[in-house]
Amino acid sequence: MPHRIPAKITGVAGYVPPKVLTNADLEKMVDTNDEWIRTRTGIRERHIVENGMASSHMATEAAKLLLAQTRTNPSEIDLIVVASVTPDMFFPATACLVQDRLGAKRAWGFDLSAACSGFAYALTVGAQFAGAGTHKKVLVIGSDTMSSILDYKDRGTCVLFGDGAGAVLLEPAGEGEGIIDFHHDVDGSGGQHLYMPGGGSLNPSSLETVQKNMHVVHQDGPNVFKYAVRRMAELSCHLLERNGLSIRDLALIVPHQANLRIIRAMQERLGVDDSKVLVNIERYANTTAGTLPLGLCDALAQGRLKKGDLVLLIAVGAGFTTGGVLLRWAY
Ligand code: UT7
Repeated sequence: MPHRIPAKITGVAGYVPPKVLTNADLEKMVDTNDEWIRTRTGIRERHIVENGMASSHMATEAAKLLLAQTRTNPSEIDLIVVASVTPDMFFPATACLVQDRLGAKRAWGFDLSAACSGFAYALTVGAQFAGAGTHKKVLVIGSDTMSSILDYKDRGTCVLFGDGAGAVLLEPAGEGEGIIDFHHDVDGSGGQHLYMPGGGSLNPSSLETVQKNMHVVHQDGPNVFKYAVRRMAELSCHLLERNGLSIRDLALIVPHQANLRIIRAMQERLGVDDSKVLVNIERYANTTAGTLPLGLCDALAQGRLKKGDLVLLIAVGAGFTTGGVLLRWAY
């Protein structure tokens, strides 16, 4: 049975830091080249923070833009959910830092960790509160500072990621609008293929964990690649079938941006052409929890989303986590 949530997105905004790291810049840092990165991943450049800026700052910038755009007073916000695997620190939660900077005095909030599926998970969690009617305005943010956990000597990972954040406002929805269905799942046996071992309670930070390079992203790329293609395609089909819809009914798919080849392979399995798929990986790379809301921002800017459109958000990330949300665009 579809998992409908009577909550709708009423605004979207994104933020990437001004500093751009191009493939040419990376050529000077590690044994790689622009041609390899472009043809194997689709990425041309990514934005990264300067020292002193972290996930909470990008999240706050995105949220401020969103509040201005939707003419929302910070005091109207009831709840803030932040998806991130790169919080400023273990605690307090990034949501608390954002709440303070926004002056969202009435809001409670918390962080959620589901890596690249983080925004899809946070969207449905936040939507439960808006859908229940107990929370009238919910802020859902995906923000990741991947540059803070990359080893810029590891060409297999450092070229793939960038920093960025996106935010949406959720409000209660009427019949036929908002979240039509979602499906998330976890295959915890995939945890070994994409992880950061150091700094947690298992391997608390020490000189040894630093020397062993445990505070950076470790990834078995080909394994993640195969899983992502298979599950993004399977989950998309599952959500459509469960709702008696076909790919033709979709106005737009906004997929997680990890690798252009993953997106194109998913498309091939689904039989969907480029006009129905949002791609912006060339400019931002993989911003983890930021990709889906940044994708929505670009879709709106390009005039590819209008009221009543059926949109599918789809992501796979570390865990493995898989997240899919089918929604009827509300404005
Ligand atoms: O959101 C979830 C997060 N992550 C992902 O979704 C990533 C999923 N995986 C991928 O996107 C791809 O597996 C990668 C982009 C990471 C790697 O692409 P691949 O086509 O699977 O390459 P590979 O790992 O099989 O490596 C092929 C070759 C290797 O050289 P040899 O052994 O054939 O000589 C690598 O050392 O490419 C080499 N290589 C590079 N060469 C230049 C790997 N990274 C680079 C690089 N520049 N940056």
